[in-house]
Amino acid sequence: MSVSPVICIDGPSGAGKGTLSRQLAQGLNWHLLDSGALYRAVGVACQRAGVALEAANEVAAIASVLDVDFRATDEGITVWMAKEDVTADIRSEAGGLCASRVALHPEVRELLLTKQREWACAPGLVADGRDMGTVVFPAAPLKIFLTASAEARAERRFHQLQGTGGNVSLPRLLADIKDRDARDVSRKASPLMPAPDAVLIDSTSLTVEEVVQRVRGLASIRGIASDTTD
Ligand code: DC
Repeated sequence: MSVSPVICIDGPSGAGKGTLSRQLAQGLNWHLLDSGALYRAVGVACQRAGVALEAANEVAAIASVLDVDFRATDEGITVWMAKEDVTADIRSEAGGLCASRVALHPEVRELLLTKQREWACAPGLVADGRDMGTVVFPAAPLKIFLTASAEARAERRFHQLQGTGGNVSLPRLLADIKDRDARDVSRKASPLMPAPDAVLIDSTSLTVEEVVQRVRGLASIRGIASDTTD
């Protein structure tokens, strides 16, 4: 079993986990696991195969043969399924909603467990998700539960999508976020919740830099990692 350190970043959609995780991984020169992208890939693969997202066995069959690959480019990390770049589909709002529906199935979560644990290798891993600290890496030496109000999260997403020229409505985004939160929190398999030993950070009125600094400070105090930046 690997003893490489893992920093878990869990929390609801839009709290800033992705940005925080990317910056931490970059600063530490560690691996980065975007577990949401795995669920998104399963959702998109099901849609393409015409599989109903409620059909647990069929969704699990798709997850068991999922051929997903992450590639670093100058524009960021792209996600590939088989030989196709599916980044745009995976990152869309529809991709996120599909992900939260396939994530309800315990069979699917179980299949993705092994895949996720394989990421924990030297020199260390920053793991971004919903159940990193509670289920996937329960022995991790640092677990962060990052939250922000639903309104702040919807607004951030609104500005992000506006920046990409997308046609979006703020009330619609807020409704989708609340919908997804409800599903993530109330599902039976690995519901979204902080691990008992997680550090809670509310990012509603914090900048990205402030959150990153806080987590880097915690990692340093706990002797987990010394940052290679600055
Ligand atoms: O982090 P994200 O927005 O890419 O995640 C999309 C959906 O995937 C989210 O609504 C719930 C699900 N998910 C999950 O259940 N467990 C994870 N570890 C990561 C994501």
